[in-house]
Amino acid sequence: MINFFKKKKQKENKIASRPFDEMDEVPSHIAIIMDGNGRWAQKKFLPRIAGHKEGMNTVKKITRRSSQIGVNVLTLYAFSTENWRRPDPEVNFLMQLPVDFFDTFVPELIKENIKVQVIGFTDQLPLHTKKAVTKAIEDTKNNTGMILNFALNYGSRSEMLEATKKIAKLVKDNTLKLEEIDEAIFESQLMTASLGDNQEVDYLIRTSGEERISNFLLWQNAYSEFYFTKELWPDFNEQSLENAIAVYQKRHRRFGGL
Ligand code: FPP
Repeated sequence: MINFFKKKKQKENKIASRPFDEMDEVPSHIAIIMDGNGRWAQKKFLPRIAGHKEGMNTVKKITRRSSQIGVNVLTLYAFSTENWRRPDPEVNFLMQLPVDFFDTFVPELIKENIKVQVIGFTDQLPLHTKKAVTKAIEDTKNNTGMILNFALNYGSRSEMLEATKKIAKLVKDNTLKLEEIDEAIFESQLMTASLGDNQEVDYLIRTSGEERISNFLLWQNAYSEFYFTKELWPDFNEQSLENAIAVYQKRHRRFGGL
């Protein structure tokens, strides 16, 4: 009896891990809400920060694989404007993570031609975090491959409010006419403007079973496909990413048309 169930499970897993088609379209811009670090740690009777540490290793794995697969932009939600509400020790740990990540990973990013960018209210980050981020951006600025875009102290509503204020100022200063405001003008004032043609998200992935968008790239996700998986972020791996892409390749995107 036990064997029968085991076999059935193996078969299901095999179907789930159907390889993605390398000849088919890969999402150009993947954005990920990396959720479930705390629960992963809890399940192992470890402190929450152990989950974040393991989550950092997942970031490395997924960055490597995304770049190999041909993704153009990988945006990772590393810290939201709401995450400051967490206990100080956890916030401090999360602010140290980019320092450790770039310290150990920038040489590989350079080798793989991956360019680091950041969106978010970076002025409000602690000095050591800001310095690490600025250095990683500088060290990889000439790379021409995938953009690894970290959302750090990012919130989409605030991003849109700031864009609105900038546009209002342009109108007030007579640099822009009210009638000239269109989607392209609005997008030019968003934090993702430097992503150019890849500003819109193609595929939004969220781990851990939560099915929410959590103030992440609200404008940019207007027509993206969503993928929710129960896997916790530290357990998400190269195969999980490929499974997600295989699902994307079966979707039919209509962008409001037929
Ligand atoms: C959400 O899980 C995760 C975060 C708020 C932090 C995400 C950060 C990383 C994955 C590491 C980032 C690495 C770099 C290089 C910046 P949660 O803690 O809310 O999980 P829970 O819902 O299970 O409690």
